[in-house]
Amino acid sequence: MRSMKILVAGKGGTGKTTVSALLSHFFCSSGHDVLALDTDSTPNLAMSIGVSPDISKSIVPLVKNEDLVEERTGARPGESWGVFFNLSPEVEDIVEKYGIKIKDKLSLLVVGSIDSAKQGCLCPAIALARSLLKHILLKNDQIVIVDAEAGAEVFGRGLAEDFDYMLCMSEPTLRSLEISKNLIRMADELGIRNNVLVVNKVVDEERAIRLVKRVVPGVRSFFVGYDPEMSSYEEEGLSVERYPKNSPVVVGVRRMFDLLFGR
Ligand SMILES: Nc1ncnc2c1ncn2[C@@H]1O[C@H](COP(=O)(O)OP(=O)(O)OP(=O)(O)O)[C@@H](O)[C@H]1O
Ligand SMILES: [Mg+2]
Repeated sequence: MRSMKILVAGKGGTGKTTVSALLSHFFCSSGHDVLALDTDSTPNLAMSIGVSPDISKSIVPLVKNEDLVEERTGARPGESWGVFFNLSPEVEDIVEKYGIKIKDKLSLLVVGSIDSAKQGCLCPAIALARSLLKHILLKNDQIVIVDAEAGAEVFGRGLAEDFDYMLCMSEPTLRSLEISKNLIRMADELGIRNNVLVVNKVVDEERAIRLVKRVVPGVRSFFVGYDPEMSSYEEEGLSVERYPKNSPVVVGVRRMFDLLFGR
């Protein structure tokens, strides 16, 4: 398979992190080299993907690493007013230096938010994160999966158009699907060719299918069932790899993976 960049986006709490973590493991176990990027301002992909809770808590996102930001952009976060800083900082070695190895072919990089509003305009830091997202080098056969922050910031120009896939996470409700419709439209306009709707936490699949046909007709859609045990997995600090194989989340995301990316 050729290299691929996949963006997992959508409204808050719809399952972006869970799906990013599961897909990372599915790609990895089918032999691909996977890099998972967390660009949330409250990063929590680490624990889902398999970093121990203690280590997860101690990870400093790149945008919060002031020394690194200064080294690469020439300005410290918060000092950007009136200071010139490099808008295209060097990022090539960052994955190697700051990536966390989960498995032989699976690494995680905790980037932090690319949303300047949410970072309180730490402009040099945002420049670094954006540059990284844009210029992340795809090695042969590498899959990059980005767990995006909730909302539409990631669809700002100059960022999202580089993705091969956008998986738009949604819940099976009218409001959530309307938001997804909007995000899919933005992604379409930016030229992302494969925009897929993933309706998560589905209890009544027939009803969800009807609603999707009504609100977002014509979009390729997948349905992932609601798992009432999810909160206990979370409380136990389980990584997605340790979820029961018959969990509706594992089954649903696996089905999507096979249909979209299986041979
Ligand atoms: N299929 C599901 N069934 C039941 N609960 C689920 C399911 N998918 C996700 N959840 C739960 O919903 C919550 C949000 O999931 P997750 O963190 O993956 O979403 P998110 O989109 O990354 O959220 P955020 O926007 O806060 O980053 C979590 O508590 C998770 O355990
Ligand atoms: Mg998340």
